[in-house]
Amino acid sequence: MGTIQLKTALPGPRSLELIERRKNAMPNGLAKSTDIAIVSAEGGVVQDADGNILLDFAGGIGMMNIGHRNPQVVEAMQQQLEKYIHVCALVATPEPYVELAELLNRITPGDFPKKTILANSGSEAVENAVNIARYATKRSAVICFEGGYHGRTLLTLSLTSKYGLFKKGFGPFVSDIVRLPAPNMYRKPTQFTDEDYIAHCIEQFNLAMIAQIDPESVAAIIIEPVQGEAGFVPMPKAFLQHLRAIADKHGIVLIFDEIQCGAGRTGKVFACEHSGVVPDMICMAKSIGAGMPISAVTGKATIMDAPHLGGVGGTYGGNPLACVAAIEAVKVISSDAFLARVREVGDIISQRLHQWKERYSLVGDVRGVGAMQLVEFVRNRETKEPDPDITLSIIRDAVSNGMLLIRAGLYSNCIRLLPPVVMENAQLQEGLDVLEASIQKFAKA
Ligand SMILES: Cc1ncc(COP(=O)(O)O)c(C=O)c1O
Repeated sequence: MGTIQLKTALPGPRSLELIERRKNAMPNGLAKSTDIAIVSAEGGVVQDADGNILLDFAGGIGMMNIGHRNPQVVEAMQQQLEKYIHVCALVATPEPYVELAELLNRITPGDFPKKTILANSGSEAVENAVNIARYATKRSAVICFEGGYHGRTLLTLSLTSKYGLFKKGFGPFVSDIVRLPAPNMYRKPTQFTDEDYIAHCIEQFNLAMIAQIDPESVAAIIIEPVQGEAGFVPMPKAFLQHLRAIADKHGIVLIFDEIQCGAGRTGKVFACEHSGVVPDMICMAKSIGAGMPISAVTGKATIMDAPHLGGVGGTYGGNPLACVAAIEAVKVISSDAFLARVREVGDIISQRLHQWKERYSLVGDVRGVGAMQLVEFVRNRETKEPDPDITLSIIRDAVSNGMLLIRAGLYSNCIRLLPPVVMENAQLQEGLDVLEASIQKFAKA
């Protein structure tokens, strides 16, 4: 017998009741990819309000790499609860903050002295990174990329791409932000080889340094080494190397946003380790907190120390409960056993996805790094015309058969697979069976 157990149709009556309350109590703009209400979760499995058991292939959008209620994390939080919940690092020094900072300074790429500031969300991490980079360089411009997602505060929303879904109606945005095209190997013009295309992207970037902005006025370049929201688009090594070279040449701070692609998801602790390119600052959140709201910016000490005394910080940043959770999560994530498991999970998923690409013409592309895997749906393989409608129908069908899923992609035509990597092999295959059955249904229709 599999893990998925359905006692009611999904969503069940209790889930629907809660959805009704949600509708009345919470704003319409807050989207949800399923109509399921969850009451408990463990590892890669969730139970809904009607007693149905589902497999979690969304992992809280990449929050749950080490699994729901990881025992080490739960234990550390319970112990911390017995001591104190909060003091605020602006008032007194909580040891968990210092310990987590030391840990992140140690494990992040870069053989130079580092410092870490903690905050509460990915957006806040990016916000801090950009503010500090601006202060350190005494410059204001920031370069970001098409497809990039960096959050929803005013500064980070200004850096975020995908206008219609994320930005429409929320302007005006922060000035002095330049958004440039990012390489997307699947959608490269057909006349290019891969190598020529990457060279072309680099040329376009260089052109922008003349046509759009003076690099000497740029405080920071921010990029996700593997774009998340855009549809798990890995940035080619040569492109990242070029950004590093430009940043070095012009004194620009290179910031990697590893909020979605970090935390071991790609088979290395940090996605940028695949390229060997070392940023000046790295933003972390999501799975480093194992579900707790915590984020971090780790960077070169000389840059991190630039702002004046009192220039950075917040009341919740480095909350001890969140810190002890993150310390345990980071220990797990950086262990060889965990990273080996990520690669195993990645192989299992990737093998199935490649079969789907052979079998179903609506699957335009499958891609990913490590256990960060995704399926892209198109109306036509030749034109690569995105098919967001069928993507949504497939998600709805698979959810109604017992899995949590979420889409992605600049065109909202991808399903991203972010199951906790502690999910058992049989559960992974079971979930993939459910998803394949849904794809098959719509492939025939
Ligand atoms: C790459 C990246 N940066 C920043 C953020 C924003 O994080 P948060 O939603 O915690 O503010 C996200 C969230 O999905 C993300 O994927």
